[in-house]
Amino acid sequence: MPATIGTAPGKIILYGEHSVVYGRHAVAVPVSKVRAKASIFPRPDLKPDEIKISAPDIQLDCQLSGLPLEHPFAKIFELAKENLNLDHFPAFDLHIKSSIPVAAGMGSGASVSIAILKALSSFLGKPFSSEELSRLSFEVEKIYHGNPSGIDNTVVAYNQPIFYKRGAPLQLLRVHTPLMFVIADSGIKSSTFDMVEKVSKARTDAIPQFESFFDRMDWIAIEARKAIEGNPSEDMGSLLTQNHRLLQQIGVSCPELDSLVDAALKSGADGAKLCGAGGGGNMIALVNPNSAGPVSQALQEAGAANIIVTTIQEND
Ligand code: MEV
Repeated sequence: MPATIGTAPGKIILYGEHSVVYGRHAVAVPVSKVRAKASIFPRPDLKPDEIKISAPDIQLDCQLSGLPLEHPFAKIFELAKENLNLDHFPAFDLHIKSSIPVAAGMGSGASVSIAILKALSSFLGKPFSSEELSRLSFEVEKIYHGNPSGIDNTVVAYNQPIFYKRGAPLQLLRVHTPLMFVIADSGIKSSTFDMVEKVSKARTDAIPQFESFFDRMDWIAIEARKAIEGNPSEDMGSLLTQNHRLLQQIGVSCPELDSLVDAALKSGADGAKLCGAGGGGNMIALVNPNSAGPVSQALQEAGAANIIVTTIQEND
């Protein structure tokens, strides 16, 4: 029998990470050049609920029944069972592969969850809608992130650029003119859980100051949205770099990310910032077809572990 496949893209946050946790606006886009893929191979020779999972990227090779209940994959199966009204799963092997760097600010956790949920629901003949994929994977994000804003699962599930505010109705973004970004990996792994916690602790000691940083990030995201939709009153590149400076001030950058941002700006990027939780992971630089090459080269020379050049349009 052929495999049933579910795939999902990676993501980058263009504006507003961390402040989005505190109810401010943010802009995020899917990145299709990196993807998670879940493949289900039916095993009619085995008994119901005999499910073998292999995910070589994270050195996992086990039976579903051997995973602790609080494991993200166990949670995904529990949610799928509940929402598909199943008593048992038919037996199958699940293979998970992903080209999205792990712990690097590109939504790897949300993407893997959504790829599995897509594969499971298609295999069982009741494909989940984007809304269901987002809602269910948000439950798994709580295990990964502790206090997720919901931005990662939303942008990955809808696979569209979004203007996001926690708890508010979804707003898809219309990208007026394609946007070109160089994404560079600092090569440093970083935990979103720890970084969100770090900001929360630092904020406790300086609430008014952090609230004003978050308000400024909110203004940046709102202005960026206007620019992306073709009604600019501020320069998109400058907004990006301003956002990076604020992320430095709330303590989530690191010397390696700062030197990649500096290298991008010096080599002709229109703007640059870290993306995702920070403390490592990736940064982005806004470029055009002429500056993409020199900026990529400068980032490589500044120590980037990996470079992706991507163009964001309405439906990446
Ligand atoms: C992580 O991709 C983005 C953060 O803002 C956390 C979140 O929004 O859940 C750091």
